This record gives sequence, structure tokens and C-alpha cells, in this order.
Amino acid sequence: MSDSRIPGFYNLALDQRWAELAKRCQLDADDLSVLRDGGQLEIDAADKMVENCVGVMGMPIGLGLNFRINDQDYVVPMVIEEPSVVAAVSNMARTIRQGGGFEAEADPSIMIGQVQILDVPDPEGAVEALITGKKRLLARANAVAPNMSRRGAGAIDIEVRRFEEPHPMLVLHLLADCADAMGANVINGMAEGIAPLVEELTGGRVNLRILSNLADRRCARARCAIPEMLLAGNGYSGAEVAQGVVEAYHFAAVDPYRAATHNKGIMNGIDAVAIATGNDWRSLEAGAHAFAAREGRYTSLSRWWRQDGCLMGSIELPMAVGIVGGSTSVHPTIRVMRKILAIESAAELGMVIAAVGLAQNLGALRALCTEGIQRGHMSLHARSVALAAGAEGDEVDRIAEALIALGQIKLEVARSLLRRQAAAV
Ligand code: MEV
Repeated sequence: MSDSRIPGFYNLALDQRWAELAKRCQLDADDLSVLRDGGQLEIDAADKMVENCVGVMGMPIGLGLNFRINDQDYVVPMVIEEPSVVAAVSNMARTIRQGGGFEAEADPSIMIGQVQILDVPDPEGAVEALITGKKRLLARANAVAPNMSRRGAGAIDIEVRRFEEPHPMLVLHLLADCADAMGANVINGMAEGIAPLVEELTGGRVNLRILSNLADRRCARARCAIPEMLLAGNGYSGAEVAQGVVEAYHFAAVDPYRAATHNKGIMNGIDAVAIATGNDWRSLEAGAHAFAAREGRYTSLSRWWRQDGCLMGSIELPMAVGIVGGSTSVHPTIRVMRKILAIESAAELGMVIAAVGLAQNLGALRALCTEGIQRGHMSLHARSVALAAGAEGDEVDRIAEALIALGQIKLEVARSLLRRQAAAV
């Protein structure tokens, strides 16, 4: 476990950051060269990953710092192109750490495989037949992934759901513990593997056999309690900030238009860690948004309230992530990211990701209910524009500051500032 509190990390030069990281996370020269050289996936490997491959694209990796979860420190790699996300999450994690850090937990890695059954002559009898056939169905499913069941994971249960008019069908849910894998391949293979037996038992016709991304048996949860005085700043008292955050949460709780944006902010952090660890962030997105609408109306994934002088926060969402299989073994950078994060199970990764989502949410709400989001965004945006215009080294900050002072964060303005600077030399 490496100490995730690295004061002044932001201000260090890149070389110093690498040195600090190597020391804290026991990175060797090979790991560092992956980070230094952009950790590109070899084109030959990329060519085997997708069809019509023509290249490989890089993305920035930032470190989410200051995370303390269940009394353990985590340095959290995040892959994201949007400015402010990494700074905001690290700031909030520092404040939450001062209040004792996060508490988090995760369910066992249970995925749901769905088998759609149509044209069932006797639906009631078919439901009965599936339930009495449970042992056979589980055995058939486990035969598809014998290694998994040998390790104590694998198919553990079934559920049958019945839909009536206008589209009558039965849907069999196969529940399988996928241990440290995300589990898509295993669960899809199992769903396909049991289909003939399902037809035999029900007399119906199986159509789809696929996992559900609404992985609600595999949720992760995180909580925090922040003494309100720690939230004071920028001319706002801690109580004012806490009240503003709670009111912002109430807005997302009642209004799907706001909840979509609120949850997007949460997913800024969650997706960034999912990408860094080689996980399928689209499945997390799908699961999160479906979960947010589980009671019939789309709402907030997090909750914020005030209690005994503290701002309290919690989050719960499906967390289908793995630490084995998938692209994790192919991509050189993902190997290094995993070394930095130093997690030992899919459940532990899920807890970290839930905590990141909660901190990210707090960062956005805090900015929105005080100075607004634009100021912080603008300075980082100005740096990206300066870089895009061709600024290098110290020039980047100088040009960015000039763009902000002019109130014109535009590529052509940055280019003309650079031209003027070159002419003056
Ligand atoms: C921007 O990427 C995310 C926010 O819009 C989230 C929010 O509004 O809560 C700032």
C-alpha cells in the first residue's frame, strides 16, 4: 500500500513526478518507460483487438491522489481527456481523508445472464419446469466454465421472470459468481450453453442469450462523513457549502434533467478509472444509468445530507469490473496502472471506483454551488488551447494566462500570441 497523499505533486516537473511515483509504487525502469513513452499499444496487438484497425490513440493518465478507503491508501490512475476532473477528485479525496476517509463495500461478483424464451405452450408449467430443473441448468452452465466452478465461483442460482401482453415471454436469469473477472465471456458462454436444456424443459424457443448490464447483484457502495468546517473556502463557510451540496443533490433527486448531468459528473471519475484498469466502461455506464432509473424515474446515483455537523455522502451502483481477462493482459499501460493501484480483487477495485465516483460528484457539486464550474475549467482549457497552438515548456502557462487575461481562449488567439512572441525574440 503506497501513501496516496503526495503534497505538491501537481507542481512537480514530469521527471520528478515519475521519480516520486516509482518510489511510492515500486515501479521499475520498464514500468517508467511505458509511462514516459506514452505506453503505446503495439500496432500489431491493436490490429488483433479490433477490425479495420488503422492506428492507436493516446490519452492522458492523471493520478487521483489522497484516497483513503477502509483505512487503506490508494493512488488511483485515471485516463481522461477532460480538464479539472483529476484535480477536483484529488481535492475532494483530500478533504474526505481529513474527515476519516471513505468506507466502502462491494457485493460478490454476481453477473446475470438472460435467456429469452418465446412461444412457450404452457408458461406456468414452463416456469415450474425451469425451477425444478435448476440443478441440471446450473450443472450445464458450470460445464461451460469448469475452472471457475473449481475455484468456488460459477453458476449459483436461477430466477424466472414472466412477461405478459403485448409481448409474452419467459426470461430465465442465470446468476453466476465471476470472481475476479468482469465475467462477460463466462456469463455469455453459460447463457448459450444452457439454451438447449431451457428449450427442452419449457417446450419454448430460445432467442437471445446474453448478460444483463444491469448488474444489480454486483453493486459497490461508498460513504463519507466530512466535518463541515473542512468545506469552507473561497469566501463560503463550511455550512454554506454543505447546504449548497445538499440542495444540489435534492435537485438531482427530483429532476431527471439534472440527474443526467449529476450522474455524468460521477461517471467522469468512474469511467476514467475503468479505462485505466482495462475495464468496459460502456457496460458500467449502461448499468449505472439503468440502476438510476430502477424505481421507474431516473434519479441521482448519490445521496448527500447534513448530520451532526458533517456533510454525509453515499453512492451505490452496479460495478461489473474485473482484474483478470479482457484487455488487461494485452495493454502494457494497463499493467503499470494496475501496479500503481495495487488492488487484489475485483471487489476491491469496485470499492475504489465507487469512492472515486462519490468524490468526483462532491467536487462538481461544490464548484457548482459556489464559484461555478467555469473558472476552474477555463484555466485548464486555456492550457490545452496553448498546447494545441504549439506552445512548449514554460510557454504553455504563459500563453494560457494571457488567453485568460484577454478573455479569449481561442486557438487563433493563442497562435497569434505565439507568433508575436517568436517575432519579439
Ligand atoms: C462536467 O463534465 C460534469 C458536471 O456537469 C457534473 C455536474 O454538473 O454535476 C460539472
